[in-house]
Amino acid sequence: MTSAEQKYDLVLFGVLGDLSRRKLLPALYQLERANLLDENSLIVGVAREELTEKQFQQEVKASLQRFIPVAEFDDSIWLRMAERLRYCELDLADSDGFQKLPSVLNNENNNSSRSVMSYLAVPPSLFAQVCKGLESIGYASSPSRVVLEKPLGHDFESSVEINDEVARYFDEEQIYRIDHYLGKETVLNLMALRFANPIFSSQWSRKYIDHIQITAAEQVGVEGRWSYYDDAGQLRDMVQNHLLQVLALVAMEPPTQLDAECVRDEKVKVLRSLRAITTENVNEDVVRGQYAAGFVNDQKVPAYLDEEGARKASDTETFVALKAHIDNWRWANVPFYLRTGKRMANKCTEIVISFKPQPHNIFKDSIGNLSPNRLIIRLQPDEGIEIEMMNKVPGLGKQMELKSTTLDLSFDETFKNNRISDAYERLLLEAFQGHQYLFVAREEVEYAWRWIDSIRKAWQQSGEKPKPYKAGSWGPVASVSLMAQEGREWEDDV
Ligand code: BG6
Repeated sequence: MTSAEQKYDLVLFGVLGDLSRRKLLPALYQLERANLLDENSLIVGVAREELTEKQFQQEVKASLQRFIPVAEFDDSIWLRMAERLRYCELDLADSDGFQKLPSVLNNENNNSSRSVMSYLAVPPSLFAQVCKGLESIGYASSPSRVVLEKPLGHDFESSVEINDEVARYFDEEQIYRIDHYLGKETVLNLMALRFANPIFSSQWSRKYIDHIQITAAEQVGVEGRWSYYDDAGQLRDMVQNHLLQVLALVAMEPPTQLDAECVRDEKVKVLRSLRAITTENVNEDVVRGQYAAGFVNDQKVPAYLDEEGARKASDTETFVALKAHIDNWRWANVPFYLRTGKRMANKCTEIVISFKPQPHNIFKDSIGNLSPNRLIIRLQPDEGIEIEMMNKVPGLGKQMELKSTTLDLSFDETFKNNRISDAYERLLLEAFQGHQYLFVAREEVEYAWRWIDSIRKAWQQSGEKPKPYKAGSWGPVASVSLMAQEGREWEDDV
């Protein structure tokens, strides 16, 4: 049997947790709605709570009704989904408890066309015991699969430990490490844009590109996640995974094929080529900030240190802006500016490719400087692509009047009838189908951590504290200077 024919039941550990309620169950509902789930597959929720099947179904239904747009919730689809749902009450610390699972799935592994995909939406400190429990009931041997949620460690060493633990039970081909940014439509479109359009692929190098910006700005604060977030900070929570994954896709060489081995190999090469940040350059090249009180969408919001559960003396960063270099032929001397923060002015994730200026300006009598072209890839919200380009302003004036204008391809407008799916829908689907190219390989995680560790070490040695910034702003002024000192500007400041 080929891996594509293999059918999977899903065992979802942590089914009553926030991620499952907000993202995973709604994603499964959407797959059901689109008829993309295998007709016979079961979804088994695992949690410690004592619940009857009926109560579990009520919990799931309540989460769906809360997190799915009203117009998309349909009772007949819910009933179809409910038929797949099973519940298994399990204390993960009790290894004997795992013996209950096969009877819930009712397959005892004797049906070779069905196998189990376990989704670990639980803290990584529990991965080892879950994997061990799965092994004890035969759910770790191939073709079983395991899906892992972040954070995969808090530094290089702890990530090696986690990966080693999981590798005791599962082979790398069975492991699906989630970075939900890789499931976003627009992140996938980045590959289409780069590798399906010669107009861009031919220009994609230091010869034509001046610099690249990647911004992931959020308006939310820590949202009751103080203890996790305060240990992590924005560098580990967002840069180590999401921003570096986007950077790797922007910077990688064209893979030979769209498969896991080729795509991941190219991403690893990029991550391996990131120039380490040291005590010598950390203060010039990295800005860390922490939000003070302010206004977001006209609502007064407290400072990070006054958030619920806050530890007053914390110097955890809620904002990072930095200049990265990729030391290879394609990107020599092209800075990659990364920026991400909580409680910022807008929710906006975008990539800006800023091209080099024209070498000679024949319009200098009418316009002093020609604005260089920019390609803006908006990942969220308002997914789309913009190209800023010079145009002649129509009219009979004596001189040619030129203006930078925007060619705007909004996905909403262009693909009116296509719903933009949530990242988890895409990722669950790909995992069911056994396509690993949208999941992160062990080597990627480890190279990303090495680079992040270099920054954290440099911070510790330099002793510099995060700079305050007003909630609702674009971060500390120093992040503007990071670009201004090189004659550049962040896209929102343009
Ligand atoms: C998560 C981080 O991985 O990504 C959160 O832990 C962050 O802190 C979230 O808010 C952002 O995801 P998105 O899809 O809203 O950009």
